[in-house]
Amino acid sequence: MRDYIRTIADFPREGILFRDVTTLFADARGFRMCVDQLLTPYAAEPIDKVVGLEARGFVLGGAVAHQLTVGFVPIRKKGKLPGGVLSEAYVLEYGEAVMEIHDDALKAGDRVLIVDDLLATGGTAAAAVRLCERLGARIVGCAFVIDLPDLGGRALLEGLGHEVFALTE
Ligand code: PRP
Ligand code: ADE
Repeated sequence: MRDYIRTIADFPREGILFRDVTTLFADARGFRMCVDQLLTPYAAEPIDKVVGLEARGFVLGGAVAHQLTVGFVPIRKKGKLPGGVLSEAYVLEYGEAVMEIHDDALKAGDRVLIVDDLLATGGTAAAAVRLCERLGARIVGCAFVIDLPDLGGRALLEGLGHEVFALTE
């Protein structure tokens, strides 16, 4: 998996090693492998919805939802969703932001798989978890291509009682 991921230094600002998954997405074999592997821990789990996090989580989450034959729900940055929304503020490795979900996108008891490309501080994923839980959904797991363990995201999510699965560190 690592061979498909490109690292770009000093993006989006100095000191950040940006893990670029566009090279993984662009490779047919790599992308197929990645989507198949993201699903392996959940083979025996009923899942009602895949929730993907803007923007790279849309590419992965859409493919995972299609593979599972379940619906896809986007969590977007503030101001992008047209309907009524719930909002959660969060802190990023390089900034601050607000994430939103449509207030009718999930129903109480829905079993949700959260998908994104990368787990860093966990701020984004924790905001996504809160949004899903505010709608009454249950988080089956949080699946990522890349975990940057030094940044504490896995510890944060596991501390909140959520299972984290990542293809590589
Ligand atoms: C990246 C990545 C995750 C998030 C992880 O997205 O795709 O969503 O950061 O960081 P965290 O664990 O510290 O919250 P980014 O916010 O750069 O948005 P983009 O996918 O729209 O570029
Ligand atoms: N999102 C947060 N940190 C990142 C990193 N180092 N590379 C790519 N996306 C990120």
